[in-house]
Amino acid sequence: METLNETFIKIFNEKPESAYFAPGRINLIGEHTDYNGGNVFPCAISYGTYGVVKAREDRLVRLYSMNFPDLGIKEFSLDDLTYKEADNWANYPKGMIGYLYDLVDNKEAVTGFDVVIFGDIPNGAGLSSSASIELLTGVIVEDLWQLTLDRVELVKLGQKVENHFIGVNSGIMDQFAIGMGQKDQAILLDCHTLNYEMVPVHLENEKILIMNTNKRRELADSKYNERRAECDEALRRLQTVTDIQALGELSLAQFDELKAVIKDDTLEKRARHAVAENQRTLEAKQALEANDLQTFGELLNASHQSLRDDYEVTGQELDTIVALTQAQNGVIGARMTGAGFGGCAIALVKEDKLPEIIQAVGKAYQEKIGYEADFYVASIADGAKKID
Ligand code: GLA
Repeated sequence: METLNETFIKIFNEKPESAYFAPGRINLIGEHTDYNGGNVFPCAISYGTYGVVKAREDRLVRLYSMNFPDLGIKEFSLDDLTYKEADNWANYPKGMIGYLYDLVDNKEAVTGFDVVIFGDIPNGAGLSSSASIELLTGVIVEDLWQLTLDRVELVKLGQKVENHFIGVNSGIMDQFAIGMGQKDQAILLDCHTLNYEMVPVHLENEKILIMNTNKRRELADSKYNERRAECDEALRRLQTVTDIQALGELSLAQFDELKAVIKDDTLEKRARHAVAENQRTLEAKQALEANDLQTFGELLNASHQSLRDDYEVTGQELDTIVALTQAQNGVIGARMTGAGFGGCAIALVKEDKLPEIIQAVGKAYQEKIGYEADFYVASIADGAKKID
């Protein structure tokens, strides 16, 4: 916080007035199910994005990110909130400001602000640094303009930024986890109805290990949109024989009965993942509640396998780190987390074995892939908020 305040003074020649934080997220299980109307099981983590802010008297917004010092100050007016390539990372806050501005009745009454941002989520690691910036901007603007928005509405605006401003057809999971997260709770979210349940995560002798492959998620956005389109097409074909609105409505047994109508191996695999993963997610939530970590871990492993073989979103780096981890003594289960194509995996591990696991996996990964992985221990944290 001190560095953020000092940077603000250096960049804007004034002191900031208020501070905010939005977390990143991990998803325990339920991958690529959100846009298929299925369940997800994410939680907010203590790594995230900080912002220190001072309101302005005019209509300018000026943003500076300590993560991209070379890009300098990004600046725009409330009177032109359109997407611009040159705004780079600042398009995420810009989109959010724009959608919130649309909701303001007296548009002359609101003013811009200066903000310095710093994120300790590794960029491109699949821990949702973009949704974190969206929700950070959301809580800042909500506070400065004194908007009273239902939190789920703010979450939906974050998704709208991704879908319509940035152009990634992502589901609601990331923004929901980051907006609604609570310390030591995972969120079982039904993405079709948005009904959700907070599930306490009380691990006595275990930790959640985050492993960053350091493989950038290149092509992730275009591949992501492609997977989504494949699922939509599989759904469309299934709808010719059954009355469903989303793949998430089917059990695996129902899917097996109907799947012949899909008539395309790739589309069938994509849909099978979505259906099976949804079922695994519900089972995993029950296993966690029953403190049956063995079953929970097996479901994590099965999730990775399905993402590798049926959904094909893992790649060499994620497969390597997950296989190496699964082979270690003290590992209960491991899988990729987030969109895939690089980024992070998570593992549930025995706390007393943590150092050995990190050491062994780190060394073997470096040998196989040629560069290092990074390791973090996740603590489950609160959602986006103003901080004192
Ligand atoms: C990304 C998207 C989410 C979700 C995951 C995969 O993180 O933003 O909406 O689809 O991928 O589960």
